Amino acid sequence: MQTLYNGKAKTLFAGPSPDTIIIFFKDTVTAGNGVKHATIPGKGALTAQISIKLFEMLKDSVPSHYIKKLDAQSFLAKKLQILPLEVVVRNYATGSIVKRLGLPRGQAFQPPLVEFFYKSDALHDPLLCLAHIQALGLATPHELAQMETYARHTNALLTDYFWALGLKLIDMKLEFGKTPDGTLLLADELSPDTMRLWDARTHESFDKDVFREDKGDLLTAYREVARRMGL
Ligand code: CDP
Repeated sequence: MQTLYNGKAKTLFAGPSPDTIIIFFKDTVTAGNGVKHATIPGKGALTAQISIKLFEMLKDSVPSHYIKKLDAQSFLAKKLQILPLEVVVRNYATGSIVKRLGLPRGQAFQPPLVEFFYKSDALHDPLLCLAHIQALGLATPHELAQMETYARHTNALLTDYFWALGLKLIDMKLEFGKTPDGTLLLADELSPDTMRLWDARTHESFDKDVFREDKGDLLTAYREVARRMGL
């Protein structure tokens, strides 16, 4: 298989047709822009299966790159031109926003906050305001509005879904891309690597913070998410 891109947690291979790619979830985990890293056998299968189930759940509500499951660790997706933006949706304050704005950890955002970050490892993914996005030509006003709509819709559906499993969706990072005809689609992954999930009762983390903050065993946390999802 031809490798198109080898990322920190996923490898992209050429798909069976020129407009498709195979997304393979690796057992590697990184934090702090790759400064902290590890290999955790079994992690890739968990993030793949969780992503596949969530994309399938969203299928009729939010247009995405997901086509079908291929095996335990990969799915087939539409080939896109990914926009260099990370769209972060926050229901509760934690992580970078607590440091930036001095908010109390766990403070609720109602309505949820939608933020855009510049996807640039060299610049450490800086927060962007709309004027920056326009000045840098990163997305059109129409694309921005569409991303915000899809992000809010994804957040509402996943919040309800996880709540029923005793998990609070704290925040998540989404990525978007465009097909050659300009159609905007939700891309990347939907897993505890890119979202924060807290137990609704104890507020224990079941996401990558377990690794970031050395709070226990990452595989055990991801297995618990998968178990509650019926995987
Ligand atoms: O994770 P950190 O505190 O650095 O950043 P954040 O802006 O508080 O992260 C918000 C959400 O986006 C969390 O669920 C992160 O896991 C996720 N995120 C991500 O998946 N990839 C990034 N490059 C940055 C954030």
